[in-house]
Amino acid sequence: MCGIVALVGSREASPILLEGLKKLEYRGYDSAGLATVNTSKGSHKSFITCKKAKGKLINLLNLVEQDGAPGHIGIGHTRWATHGKPLEQNAHPHMDSVGEVAVVQNGIIENYTLLKKKLEDRGISFSSDTDTEVIPHLISEEIKRLKKDGHETNDQLFLLAVQTVLDYLEGSYALAVIWTATPDALIVAKSKAPLLIGFGEGEFLCASDTPAFAGFTRAVLSLEDQELALLTPLGVEIYNSSGERQYRSPSFINGYESDIEKGNFRHFMLKEIFEQPATADLWISRYLPDDLPVEAPVALPFDNSFFDPIEEIQILACGTSRHAAMVGAYLLEQFAGIPTTVFFASEFRYAAPPLAPNTLTIGVTQSGETADTLSALAMEHERRSACNDIAFASRQLGVTNMVESSLARQVSNILDIGAGLEVGVAATKTFLGQLLTFYGLAIMFAARRKARSANEILDLCNQLRSLPKQLRNLIETHNELTEKLSHQFSETKDVIFLGRGINYPIALEAALKLKEISYIHAEGYPAGEMKHGPIALLDKKVAVVSIATKGIVFEKALSNAQEAKARDACLIGIGPKVPETDIFDHLLPIPQVSEWISPLLTIIPMQLLSYHIAAHRGLDVDQPRNLAKSVTVE
Ligand code: F6R
Repeated sequence: MCGIVALVGSREASPILLEGLKKLEYRGYDSAGLATVNTSKGSHKSFITCKKAKGKLINLLNLVEQDGAPGHIGIGHTRWATHGKPLEQNAHPHMDSVGEVAVVQNGIIENYTLLKKKLEDRGISFSSDTDTEVIPHLISEEIKRLKKDGHETNDQLFLLAVQTVLDYLEGSYALAVIWTATPDALIVAKSKAPLLIGFGEGEFLCASDTPAFAGFTRAVLSLEDQELALLTPLGVEIYNSSGERQYRSPSFINGYESDIEKGNFRHFMLKEIFEQPATADLWISRYLPDDLPVEAPVALPFDNSFFDPIEEIQILACGTSRHAAMVGAYLLEQFAGIPTTVFFASEFRYAAPPLAPNTLTIGVTQSGETADTLSALAMEHERRSACNDIAFASRQLGVTNMVESSLARQVSNILDIGAGLEVGVAATKTFLGQLLTFYGLAIMFAARRKARSANEILDLCNQLRSLPKQLRNLIETHNELTEKLSHQFSETKDVIFLGRGINYPIALEAALKLKEISYIHAEGYPAGEMKHGPIALLDKKVAVVSIATKGIVFEKALSNAQEAKARDACLIGIGPKVPETDIFDHLLPIPQVSEWISPLLTIIPMQLLSYHIAAHRGLDVDQPRNLAKSVTVE
């Protein structure tokens, strides 16, 4: 969701903060702000300079360039609105009434109305509609109270005040605070939202996500929930919620792309669609080398006996990751014969099914930071850990593109999809990486459980190995075809995507892609469901995109498409170029492959069609309105 950064050191803070924010802009981009502390030479008085701008980060960059924000210490924020509209007044940092304390926060303070009411009753007036603004006011009040009690040094007083205020806060937060009376110190704290401290030379940078450290440091320490840290140019002091000092060293994080460029592509999303053959190539070389034995044909980074006790699988995920999980569930059940259920993580968290024995819980999140998924996994781990029966033990697996994420710290078995940094908010190459991971898992389960013959397993492995070449051809062809087709969608208001069986989740994913970047209303349905209600929506203004690949539901999918055509809908087909598919007004052809691997191909024209429709409308494809790449609030 929102991105936060904080810096203390000897260099000018604002350029480093802005650089960090640039790398976190994908977390939210409806407004941005920063605040620095500076001491005026003559009077030795310290003051905070706070700059905020509505809209993209570039507006803040221009403002800081024009007005300046001097100081060697500062905090910054890029916002995705939760409480309060995306206006300048709601942008962070937020300050106390006298402008001495400034705070940036990522998360949601659930009891803020109560806290705000109490502060207002004491005569404090608010200048924003956010939940965050209660924090600087509370800290300022606490400082006043402690000062009256005649408390120690300013650093100690600052620590004590923030620590006390943290106890009042309910919900999730990662925050950074500066105070004019401590011009060389800042405080950061977190609870159920990520916060990391990067160790530079004589300077420290805090951020809500690792990309902010690119070009700054690789030595990073992750704060634990309920911890707070005081940062000065001399070092970092970490305390737990009881005020006890904690001692930990930073660890070295793996490389991250620091130089993210669009190359010759108009948008990151298109670039990332074109990167999918490389994603597949890398995944195959890593997980599907051809010299593995048939009983363990996939190179997974844990002992193969991991699979043996498992009788059931439950998958927790959101959005696109959930759609990948649905294809995964199809494969795990139909190819490997293991009962599998996919849950919306946000629903599972509050309405989990009764515990089943010998169950593997898989959390799928490309960012590794989705709060709904992380808390659902934590809840499941907790309720299973409370059982004394080994059959109900907690067995968890995480599938992510970010091996340095909160998911990787929370779950010990991690499968890295290795898609490389995805900048476009609409997930494309990470979806493909997640799909491939489920192919790997299904093959492993099938092999270990002897659910399929050696030939069937080998056949699927070989089909996957030929995927990168097929993807390359498909992307080239469909990029042109879908660009032309997109012109027909200039006036379209509703699109229905139909799929069946293993391709039903692709219809859901196609609808999600289209609505998130083009703002066109779109729905995905299992094609057979159409006649049970949604068919009433159809007329000649509605476009229907139907997936009909060769396999057990080919004829049925074609009949369902005919039903739509009979209601005058404009019919677009995704399927093989064979006489049966002549029924479509437009065919986006797919090579004839086995039904098992068809989703890996049918997704390509879907992604490209959505992309070109949105690009043709001149929309901000990479940063669509109201969205964020990493959804860190529940
Ligand atoms: C859609 C999209 C979102 C995410 C969802 C979960 O293009 O990106 O629907 O899939 O917010 O995100 P992760 O995978 O990071 O948990």
